Amino acid sequence: MSVRFPLLLLGLLAGCGRDLEAEYREALGTPKALALPSFPESNPPTREKRELGRRLFYDQRLSGNQTQSCASCHEQRLAFTDGKPTSTGSTGHVLTRNSQGLQNAAYNSTLTWANNGLITLEAQLMVPIRGDRPVELGVNDGNEGEVIARFESDAEYAAQFRAAFPASPSGVTIDKVVFALATFCRSLVGADSPYDRFVAGDTSAISDAAKRGADLFNGEKFECFHCHGGVNLGISYRDARTTAETATYPFFNNGLYNVGGDGGYPARDQGLYELTLHPDDRGRFRPQSLRNVALTAPYMHDGSIETLEGVVRHYAAGGRNVESGPNAGDGRLNPLKSGLVRPFAATEQEIADVLAFLETLTDTTFVENPAFSAPP
Ligand code: HEC
Ligand code: HEC
Repeated sequence: MSVRFPLLLLGLLAGCGRDLEAEYREALGTPKALALPSFPESNPPTREKRELGRRLFYDQRLSGNQTQSCASCHEQRLAFTDGKPTSTGSTGHVLTRNSQGLQNAAYNSTLTWANNGLITLEAQLMVPIRGDRPVELGVNDGNEGEVIARFESDAEYAAQFRAAFPASPSGVTIDKVVFALATFCRSLVGADSPYDRFVAGDTSAISDAAKRGADLFNGEKFECFHCHGGVNLGISYRDARTTAETATYPFFNNGLYNVGGDGGYPARDQGLYELTLHPDDRGRFRPQSLRNVALTAPYMHDGSIETLEGVVRHYAAGGRNVESGPNAGDGRLNPLKSGLVRPFAATEQEIADVLAFLETLTDTTFVENPAFSAPP
């Protein structure tokens, strides 16, 4: 698979007399309020790929032992999370990380909780399909042929693959599966929460408490907006017009742990450090988009904070003190913690107001959109 950056050149959108941008938006169902998501030149969106991807997303035949689909860990009613602290794969492996919501994930400049090298959905989706540390869907060299044959021998699927990949009519391949799934994931977008309507000018869309909460969230006492700003309330952002110079790759340590007192995180997962092995990257994770956050408990990369109230109190304390056990240590004193996470005195009223604001990010249009649910 060839993936280049910038993923989609501006010139390509303007090219050849056709309004390609309008065609791609139509294929993905991108609403007016949002930009066209980026995609690799090798995988331009079409309606056929998106529909095929939707079917595959809900199909347990995509896992080696046919017990799991993408939707097992990404349920639409939970904004495409699974409600568990950390997910369990098809063969019973417990993952170290919390399932991520998929609304507007297509705009993240990097994918997953902490990987600065995964910049396309195409590259990222190989992980749940083929990953073996831990096993998620459990497709491997031994069973890949069998998994492909399940789709090839199904006449309806075979026709859908031909329609989605007309330039390559013969056969099903893992790359085609991934291209279709990535296209479906690019369609999982929306911006119709009460807060979106408030930002668009409807002053009655949210309560007075939520308005006060929004001001606190966007103010210099709570500091949330520095890392959860922008259209997705998470500053990792890229769309089809973003260039290499304007893309951002944020990762921060927000003081969840301080194992050993020198900034360490639990050995099972030290965030960006796992890839870079740079000691300063211990505990650095990508700020998660807060869209639908009231539906995606428990919170943080390891699901270690149960409620939103717990999250807000975590920040007010400037980090978390783990008093006992193997991961004991005072996260408030973590030397690698971001300077933006520092204690502040919040009244009970202020905490309630910020929670009221976070509740306004629930987008029922998105979680009930029939275009995102299992095909009939
Ligand atoms: C066993 C549970 C499980 C399965 C099955 C699974 N996922 Fe995930 N997904 C996760 C977890 C956990 C993460 C976070 C991974 C990480 O940070 O390393 C994630 C992350 C993602 C992301 C990145 C989101 C972001 O904001 O960066 C996408 C996209 C995604 N999954 C789509 C899929 C698709 C499509 C499938 C099916 C091919 C799938 N997942 C199968 C658990 C799962
Ligand atoms: C320095 C950047 C930074 C600031 C400031 C910040 N956050 Fe975060 N936020 C992060 C990072 C990074 C994560 C993921 C950390 C992890 O999982 O280890 C996160 C995670 C979260 C989550 C969990 C999301 C999920 O789906 O699990 C919530 C909720 C949240 N932050 C809310 C807030 C609020 C409210 C504020 C202000 C009080 C705030 N954040 C301030 C960087 C920040």
